Amino acid sequence: MTDKNRVYIFDTTMRDGEQSPGASMSLEEKIQIARVFDELGIDIIEAGFPIASPGDFEAVTEVSKILKKSIPAGLARHSKKDIDRCYEALKHAPRFRIHTFISTSPLHMKHKLNKSPEEVYEAIKQNVTYARKFTDDVEWSCEDGTRTDMDYMCKTVELAIKCGAKTINIPDTVGYTIPSEFTKIIETLLNKVPNIDKAILSTHCHNDLGLAVANSLAGVQAGARQIECTINGLGERAGNAALEEVVMAMKTRPDLMPFETGIETTLLSKASKIVSNATGFPVQYNKAIVGKNAFAHEAGIHQDGMLKNRQTYEIMTPESVGVQQTSLVMGKHSGRHAFKDKLTSLGYPNLTDDIVDNAFAKFKILADKKKHVYDEDIIALIDDSLIIDNKVNAINLKSLKVFAGTGEPQRAEMTLDVFGEIKQASETGDGPVDAIFKCIKKLYPHEVNLQLYQVHAVTEGTDAQATVSVKIEENGKTTVGQAADTDTLVASANAYINSLNKMIIKRDKTAPEQNYENQNYENQNYENQKMKGI
Ligand code: KIV
Ligand code: ZN
Repeated sequence: MTDKNRVYIFDTTMRDGEQSPGASMSLEEKIQIARVFDELGIDIIEAGFPIASPGDFEAVTEVSKILKKSIPAGLARHSKKDIDRCYEALKHAPRFRIHTFISTSPLHMKHKLNKSPEEVYEAIKQNVTYARKFTDDVEWSCEDGTRTDMDYMCKTVELAIKCGAKTINIPDTVGYTIPSEFTKIIETLLNKVPNIDKAILSTHCHNDLGLAVANSLAGVQAGARQIECTINGLGERAGNAALEEVVMAMKTRPDLMPFETGIETTLLSKASKIVSNATGFPVQYNKAIVGKNAFAHEAGIHQDGMLKNRQTYEIMTPESVGVQQTSLVMGKHSGRHAFKDKLTSLGYPNLTDDIVDNAFAKFKILADKKKHVYDEDIIALIDDSLIIDNKVNAINLKSLKVFAGTGEPQRAEMTLDVFGEIKQASETGDGPVDAIFKCIKKLYPHEVNLQLYQVHAVTEGTDAQATVSVKIEENGKTTVGQAADTDTLVASANAYINSLNKMIIKRDKTAPEQNYENQNYENQNYENQKMKGI
């Protein structure tokens, strides 16, 4: 294996992934995700599109301050204002990347940009050169690359490299290409662009035809050395190439793909969970690598083969992607020290004392209620503690009683602490959850749309903890709340309250957003473009 075979992983979960409708993440969630991505060994983390909103700007700023190994990147269109804003957000990091892009397909140039190929060519010259004033790590993307005329693409790529771009990204923006065609595109660039040896070629494939991973791998086999991807394949429409899939494909088939990444694959499962928790997007059960069933063997004939030799039906081990076999953990007599050791072994080594204390207190309560406490229970507790920070919560559940069953309307009695004031209410509803949510609304009047209410059992058995996810929307802003408890109704109340607490924070923080978005950026042809829906 030589350096020539090192493939760089560029993650865009927090930028392209967040463009997925309803997948917005809070600043705190992005910071938490960035820490895990850093540990995971992602080479470049695109943390947002700084000019799109103050929220994106803040996320790129904060992420660029905390990364230890990964290089932070921000997205910018071909405009000085975009590039300035991108630099302002990234400048805290010792090394950073400005990723600037413009469309090059006839369709996009004419209908989206209203520019001639010559004008686009000129824009590339000006903007790549300008971005290079801030960093020598500039990436240039030709949006809608796979529908771009090949000769024109060669000319623009040559120009971008001449102006100082060190990475050239070829997006399959609309998920239109197929592996043989994408191979040809990469090969042509390598053969025809005279200065191509001065840059790394990158893939950025969307999954509209379910080919994003196959196309990315075809690109690498043809000579690309960077893959842009997202955890769980999150992204616009059908999503982007799934990071865990491209990485594990290369790791599992080195005979055909002798490439190396810097990814610590045993953290893939954790990264998948954290992104799913933050976005409220569940991972489908049969999702490759990180789905609940990815390593489950149901058929008797498969189980028999597995018992004789795991390789009969297993091409990679669950351990290699961080899937732990369900195991029993300490009981209610276990101490805080043992609990902390357990958290480290589960992949949470650097938690603050406050978070450990909070989770430990919950663990004790759980161990009293539940016969067996499994690793999955501990993970749910800790995820819950990371999300619910009582110090900043405006609303807290004090008590809940629910009357449910046949015959009578279901009723909830609730006590809430709302901004320090203790309030009580009782409501009936169409089911116990409805009654609970009505109580919350009575005690803290608000108007939001409930976009998702989802329950899943953390482990098997009737005494399993339930993790409830609630997604709400208010004036175009969404938040996801989550909570775990052996009582599904308590978890439901806490998840809803958690989503409201996040919305309260978001409301405060995003008040200036409208002003910012309404500013008229001079000299831009993008007024009609929705910022986040490039
Ligand atoms: O899909 C796309 O073309 C993009 C670019 C901004 C890289 O996301
Ligand atoms: Zn994209």
